[in-house]
Amino acid sequence: AGALRGVVALDGPSGTGKTTVARKLAQRLSAGYLDTGAMYRVVTLAVLRAGTDPADAGAVTEVARGAEFTIGTDPGRPSVALGGEDVSAEIRGADITHAVSPVSAVPQVRELLVARQRRIIDEVLAEVGGIVVEGRDIGTVVAPDAPLKVYLTASPEIRAARRSAQDTAAGRESSHADARASVDRRDRLDSSRAASPLRAAEDAVHLDTSELEIDQVLVALCELAGHRGLLD
Ligand code: DC
Repeated sequence: AGALRGVVALDGPSGTGKTTVARKLAQRLSAGYLDTGAMYRVVTLAVLRAGTDPADAGAVTEVARGAEFTIGTDPGRPSVALGGEDVSAEIRGADITHAVSPVSAVPQVRELLVARQRRIIDEVLAEVGGIVVEGRDIGTVVAPDAPLKVYLTASPEIRAARRSAQDTAAGRESSHADARASVDRRDRLDSSRAASPLRAAEDAVHLDTSELEIDQVLVALCELAGHRGLLD
């Protein structure tokens, strides 16, 4: 495949293979990569470290404004740092996953992060020419003009199984029942929040990954990008 020109917006709930697909797609198309979920997670880590109640929107906003974090856009080595410390592994922990929904529901936090996401996208487009951006509101809010928007889905059963396998692989304790409960809880919270709830853009291509291997998803996405004329 050639190199990507422009933005590919990849949205959907967790456990659809979104993160793996986004990274590999960016690598295959010599593009940059932005994991916006990692930004909500690193702010959540800052909130927990500050001893702030994730449900206290005002206090959470203060922490978010003061948090000094960086996020890498190289799909070959994703990195997230808070105050200079690499927290890439820590932000995947169960306590962060639990607290991230209330934090990401605060409109002021979203405003702050969306502005930052748009700046990063512009920088990467200027430098590399293409970027794959993954999240929940990329096609609807962050990059509504993206020339390719994809909404990944998968059955809750399969998503829970994938989440559980991911946790086990990362050395975290996990049971299928816990994973299923966590997937259901986040779906509910992410879809029902007032500020930018999880939903597909009207012009997004829907792709159900329940029965697909990662590589099949990649092939489908590369084809879509090619058809849209986004590959050099
Ligand atoms: O993709 P993830 O599991 O790392 O995302 C973590 C949380 O952040 C998820 O519960 C929803 C939220 N999120 C969001 O609200 N908007 C985004 N663009 C990305 C993630």
